[in-house]
Amino acid sequence: MNILVVGGAGYIGSHIVKQLIDSNHKVVVLDNLQTGHAKAVTEPAIFIKGNVKDKPLLRNLFTETSFDVVFHFAANSSVEESMKDPLLYFDNNVSGLITLLEVMNEFAVKTIIFSSTAAVYGDTSEKVITEDNETIPKNPYGESKRMMEKIIQWCHTAYDINYVVLRYFNVAGADLSGAIGEDHQPETHLIPIVLEVPLSKRDFITIFGNDYDTKDGTTVRDYVHVVDLANAHLLAMNYLLEGKESTIFNVGSSTGFSTLEIINKVEEYTQKKIPVKYGNRREGDPHSLIASSKKIESVLGWKPQYTDLNSIIDSVWKWHTTHPTGYENDV
Ligand code: UFG
Repeated sequence: MNILVVGGAGYIGSHIVKQLIDSNHKVVVLDNLQTGHAKAVTEPAIFIKGNVKDKPLLRNLFTETSFDVVFHFAANSSVEESMKDPLLYFDNNVSGLITLLEVMNEFAVKTIIFSSTAAVYGDTSEKVITEDNETIPKNPYGESKRMMEKIIQWCHTAYDINYVVLRYFNVAGADLSGAIGEDHQPETHLIPIVLEVPLSKRDFITIFGNDYDTKDGTTVRDYVHVVDLANAHLLAMNYLLEGKESTIFNVGSSTGFSTLEIINKVEEYTQKKIPVKYGNRREGDPHSLIASSKKIESVLGWKPQYTDLNSIIDSVWKWHTTHPTGYENDV
């Protein structure tokens, strides 16, 4: 298959690119390297530096290659940043997708796999969230992704563009080869931040709020291994190519861990004390997000392999200890 991966040099996109390459697909990656790294793109994928909003560039790419499938990852994805600068999120995320869909439609490319998020659900009283749950995003990031989902759904109705939307819960971990991993500057995600303490890059962790209505007062999240998530994308692609119905799937592990539990697990794994301070709640944070992944398991036959937290921590540890400065000094 000829596949275009928009945002394929980023943390999640690069793990999907690796699995596509390992499955012998021909991959072109378009990424503006705003947060991605050219070195994260597994060879022989072709890497093009550019912006998804650049229509002439997209037209050139679609003229050169007849794509069978497009994967979309090119988006700003920080809850906190989106609360401070919502227009950045609506501009980059929503308008970037519109340009991509316009060109897909122009070139009659009819298949898209879209990277969405549990942030579309917002605060919910449901313990375990199914795809039918109401979507009332609590931050502009989640709102932008919900808008993008709806735009894709209307393009399905109007132009027969087929889609699978994957709503990820908290993605963590790194490829088991240790060759690619998460390298954000600055890092904001909990698991890599907690590991920075035993790696001597940080002295303590600030927990954003301990007065939530959860098991220990700290926020609860559902952590899914990036390798399992990548596998879900390949299954979703094959499903659409078999002509099956466009749809939305949650991708999570169906288990919730509190922020405090994550810290304890990392302490246990590294045998190093992790000092904690309690800070204010972070604006835009839902108290608990746990996926029901029943639908993706039954429809796509997705079976996550790395469901225990230790396998996530182990792969992140391997990535960081072998790449102490991320991709910077990679050759
Ligand atoms: N947290 C802390 N201290 C920190 C960092 C994080 O207490 O230093 C807490 C956060 O408040 C949050 C939890 O740890 O409750 C997880 O935080 P992350 O920043 O790792 O992840 P988020 O849940 O905020 O968001 C992530 C992705 C989003 C995605 C969401 C879906 O970044 O893109 O998961 O669940 F939408």
